[in-house]
Amino acid sequence: MGLHKFCRELPKLELHAHLNGSLSRSTMLQLQRCLADNGMADTSNAFLDEFQIGAGDTRNLADCFQVFNIAHALTSTKETLAKATASTLKEFEDDGCCYIELRSTPRQTPHMTISEYIETIVQTMLNTTDMSIISCLIVSINRSSSQRDADIIADYAIEYHAKYPDIVVGIELSGNPAIGNFKDFVPPLTRARNAGLKITLHCGEICNPQEVIEMLNFKPERIGHGVCIHPRFGGIDAAWELLCKSQIPVEICLTSNVNTKSTPDYNCHHFNELYNANVPIVLCTDDKGVFATSLSQEYQICAETFGIEQSKLARLSLSACNYIFAVEKRKMLMDKLLNFINKKEL
Ligand code: IMP
Ligand code: ZN
Repeated sequence: MGLHKFCRELPKLELHAHLNGSLSRSTMLQLQRCLADNGMADTSNAFLDEFQIGAGDTRNLADCFQVFNIAHALTSTKETLAKATASTLKEFEDDGCCYIELRSTPRQTPHMTISEYIETIVQTMLNTTDMSIISCLIVSINRSSSQRDADIIADYAIEYHAKYPDIVVGIELSGNPAIGNFKDFVPPLTRARNAGLKITLHCGEICNPQEVIEMLNFKPERIGHGVCIHPRFGGIDAAWELLCKSQIPVEICLTSNVNTKSTPDYNCHHFNELYNANVPIVLCTDDKGVFATSLSQEYQICAETFGIEQSKLARLSLSACNYIFAVEKRKMLMDKLLNFINKKEL
């Protein structure tokens, strides 16, 4: 079977996708129309073009973080946030994704409270009975936020995990890696962990070996990116050895790393180092709208760049089942993958 078709058909698990970075152009247009119908948006489309960051774009990492303001302006009401969530889940499902842990930073807007933000996403996930994709929410803390605001987000995550334990499954730390200190977020993350939430951390997006070691010693269930951990990419031996020993799974986002220039090109991506060292990895999209990609495209790029054959790609997807936060869904997803592998005789 052709690689493109195979990558689309393969049942896949998305474990690192930011809601407001995942909006496709058509979703954004739909949201814009919805706001305009309520007299809340202008109808020019020029600003939508600013949302996409392609390979070779001259913007630096800090500039890249500005583009999220565009999506945030569109998801500021309960109605558009619900539509954004539903459309994004549908797009992942259409791409052959059978399980997603969507993440988002709850925020107060003129039209909703933080609590309503979380409730809106949860209710949309509960109402996707017409879809076969299983969806969960990871609550994000932005590392630019104050300790007080991080505490507030952690409290809401704990409250909503107690209320909807099958939906609100984790908490994570993201945002501009050049801002803030991991240490300041340890107390709220620890409280969330003690309340039963699983943890994933954006780790090593820029060179900061001390922080990488602090993060790995915190023993999150997963980390995102892990670019600057191997000494070849600005990391230090102690951090790399700690990662290999701890076997903490790494959410790999190939196109995101190339387009934000964290990695010069696909060929020199640290996928190889992680794969060869048997560090668990999961292929993910990060921000499929911003980086104009899809999960099946990330599998295809991985296969083409690193020569990973179809049977190994399927096993990558199978192994992702081990690292999901909704533990009770693991067996069902594994059965689905094993069925696919048997049927295709891989
Ligand atoms: P949201 O949390 O649904 O609003 O999704 C957008 C947010 O995700 C951004 O404002 C960032 O805080 C975070 N984010 C998206 N991509 C990245 C990344 O590559 N590194 C760190 N944070 C990110
Ligand atoms: Zn991310």
